[in-house]
Amino acid sequence: MDRDLSLNIARVTEAAALSGAKFLGKGDKNGADGAAVDAMRRMFDTVHINGTVVIGEGEIDEAPMLYIGEEIGTRQNDDVAVDIAVDPIDGTTAISNGMNNAIAVVAVAPEGCLLHAPDVYMKKIACGPAAKGKIQLDDTVENNIKRVAEAVGKSMEDITVSVLDRPRHDDLIQEIRKTGARIRKISDGDIVTAIYTCFEESGIDLIMGIGGAPEGVVAAAALKCLGGDFQGRLVHFDDAQLSRIEKSPAEEGKIYTIDDLVKGDDVIFSATGVSNGDLLKGVHFMKGNKASTQSLVLRLPSRTVRFIDSVHDLNHKPEYAK
Ligand code: FBP
Repeated sequence: MDRDLSLNIARVTEAAALSGAKFLGKGDKNGADGAAVDAMRRMFDTVHINGTVVIGEGEIDEAPMLYIGEEIGTRQNDDVAVDIAVDPIDGTTAISNGMNNAIAVVAVAPEGCLLHAPDVYMKKIACGPAAKGKIQLDDTVENNIKRVAEAVGKSMEDITVSVLDRPRHDDLIQEIRKTGARIRKISDGDIVTAIYTCFEESGIDLIMGIGGAPEGVVAAAALKCLGGDFQGRLVHFDDAQLSRIEKSPAEEGKIYTIDDLVKGDDVIFSATGVSNGDLLKGVHFMKGNKASTQSLVLRLPSRTVRFIDSVHDLNHKPEYAK
């Protein structure tokens, strides 16, 4: 893929963040998601790709835009064929409640390289580069924490594991506590916490637990660019989810490694902060109808980690007019 595509993908996540952020703290998670989807879809129309959404807003009959299988981009003859994973807002509840760590995110890879994960759950484990190769989803919590602690040169007591704050994680939390490790519970948004494992200053060494499967593929794309590690296995909690797995090309029992989730050696990833987070600042609306955004843009072939700070003059972007 052309390396200049990175900047256009950053424009796509910036557009989603600018639109979604207008709903910060407004108690309207569907409004936020809808606005971010609209903005993302509009911006994709200007990008020179022959894209297919493989991780999106749902099936064709449930999502008007960015549905799985939707063909997007300018789609001209010489445009590169790519798989696209989108999450216009990871953390819609956080946005609705005015809370931190919501991001807009897109991963792009050559056609056939991203797992077409159904909209179900995934048991996940992820770590940063220092512990790559040391995590094993079907091993015990204690063994995983022990190996990661050795790899990063810390005691088990100084390892911090991020876990989604959900009743389904009560046993997992007990297991982690028994090892002496710390837990950082999050209310939402396990893509960004997976990314945190690759930034030492975040203080997060591991993520464990069950979150969304689409979010798992998106997180794996980022971690592959950052040199981290990720494993996941699909999980269902009801018949509807089971039927989605059965209809998808993915398998329920299989442990997917980072290279199964994201094949090959070409990925572009962009995340823009919607609300403030430890890694990315959220959208800041300023006087004069301007707004600032901060994005993390990654490219696997070069391993470049790029932070892009932008100031948008919304007077010149009629689509964001008040
Ligand atoms: P949404 O923004 O789509 O609500 O997803 C937020 C999220 O917290 C994900 O980051 C996570 O993978 C998933 O929801 C967990 O699902 P649930 O809230 O059902 O436990």
